[in-house]
Amino acid sequence: MKVAIASDHGGIHIRQELKALMDEMGIQYEDFGCECDTSVDYPDYALPVAKKVAEGEFDRGILVCGTGIGMSIAANKVKGIRCALAHDTFSARATRQHNDTNVLALGERVIGPGLARDIAQIWLTTEFEGGRHENRVNKITEYENSNPTL
Ligand code: RB5
Repeated sequence: MKVAIASDHGGIHIRQELKALMDEMGIQYEDFGCECDTSVDYPDYALPVAKKVAEGEFDRGILVCGTGIGMSIAANKVKGIRCALAHDTFSARATRQHNDTNVLALGERVIGPGLARDIAQIWLTTEFEGGRHENRVNKITEYENSNPTL
């Protein structure tokens, strides 16, 4: 699995924590910034990561900002992206099993590094269940594919 990871200035510490986690897990990743100690705009980091996942260059994406909300809104604008903002382990597991999410968003001003690690570890290792959930995910994909303006 190859993961693209990025954050804005509000998510730098959790981004570093999750890179250490992926090193421990033996997961390959590429860091797309930010290299910042000043304020940057989260779409400038969410959209490139989301596009790389949607185009198949990376299998998954992880995005961190202050709340995780801006990153998740931006990532979900990219066709083919199913981004989950998950701040608890139940949701992290369920969104892989049921939604086959390919991007995870986290908010560093909402949760601490320990919980972020647990969430990311579960999200990175949980398989999609398919079956009735696949039919539901397919309906989202069909909607995207039948709307040329998306
Ligand atoms: C930056 O101040 C903050 O707005 C950003 O990190 C994020 O929380 C946006 O959703």
